[in-house]
Amino acid sequence: MEEVQKKRMLSGIKPSGDLTLGSYLGAVKNWAERAEQYDCFYFMADLHAITVRQNPQDLRRRTLEQLAQYIACGLDPEKNTLFVQSHVHQHAELGWVLDCYSMFGELSRMTQFKDKSAKNADNINAGLFTYPALMAADILLYQPDLVPVGEDQKQHVELTHVIARRFNGIYGDVFKIPEPFVPKVGARIMSLTNPTAKMSKSESEDAGSVLLMSPPEVIMKQFKRAITDSDTENCVRYDKENKPGVANLMTIYSAVTGQSYDQIEEEFAGQGYGKFKPVVGEAVVEHLRPIREETQRLLKDKAYLESVYQAGAQKASYVAEKTLRKVYKKVGFLAK
Ligand code: TYM
Repeated sequence: MEEVQKKRMLSGIKPSGDLTLGSYLGAVKNWAERAEQYDCFYFMADLHAITVRQNPQDLRRRTLEQLAQYIACGLDPEKNTLFVQSHVHQHAELGWVLDCYSMFGELSRMTQFKDKSAKNADNINAGLFTYPALMAADILLYQPDLVPVGEDQKQHVELTHVIARRFNGIYGDVFKIPEPFVPKVGARIMSLTNPTAKMSKSESEDAGSVLLMSPPEVIMKQFKRAITDSDTENCVRYDKENKPGVANLMTIYSAVTGQSYDQIEEEFAGQGYGKFKPVVGEAVVEHLRPIREETQRLLKDKAYLESVYQAGAQKASYVAEKTLRKVYKKVGFLAK
């Protein structure tokens, strides 16, 4: 019987900080849940990480740790292609080509560029500016059907569409136009100390960011201290506008337990935040425990991790090269 070709899915994370509950619930958890249905490509976006200055040792450590975390979160390297972005040279090469098909005005409008340049005023480098063109290259090289990302990356995937359509408009159907996939629950996890700001890994020393590798007692402390709102209601009710802290905790609880907001409201009816916060902390600790333990186990086996990323790069490079060759031919580069 003819085997049906699986749809392809691709995504990446910058190893610019230790992985947080935000990147887990917004991204990796959803990847793992679909790993069986799709032909999946996942990478550590180290080329993207250096748009902000990195300590070299930390970047290396985090890249390997992120790979171990991908596997520990359920991405089986036998079934998914897991690789380091800088190991597949086609990303940088297509990135350059797509720089030439991305407009200054478009890149200037990216909210992440505006945010990051405000935060890194002493290092507003060209890479930070052209980053979405590299991200478009990451995606388009693999001709994926679906790109699962959190809310904050949706704008970059939309720009990928614009760039791909522009290129296809000139040269014919070179790139498949992928769909972003943003999860219903968990697409934007907020900081526990400032529920109006995104939980971010670059500010991972911050008490508002829950790290996947943190010990349970640290996570429990963070949840017990989570900022709930200064309303007098003291009641677990989902109201994102007026009770962003409680809403964020409910989102986290919903994502790790699978319960709906209605069910959570019912479970905690008549109980205040003091009861709710440690229960959420407990649920997160138990959810993350196997991931943390498996990551620690995998990190002891460097030879295995090396074999995974080497095989991953080989497979990714094979697929990426096909697209790159087509692009080079279309734009008029002389064949080697
Ligand atoms: P990055 O590394 O900032 O984040 C990785 C993924 O995690 C999601 N995420 C969140 N989701 C919910 N709540 C949060 N607080 C939260 N923080 C992060 C992000 O939306 C993202 O899906 N440019 C990308 C990496 C990248 C990429 C790609 C992604 C490079 N090339 C190609 C997809 C396809 C980035 O910086 O994500």
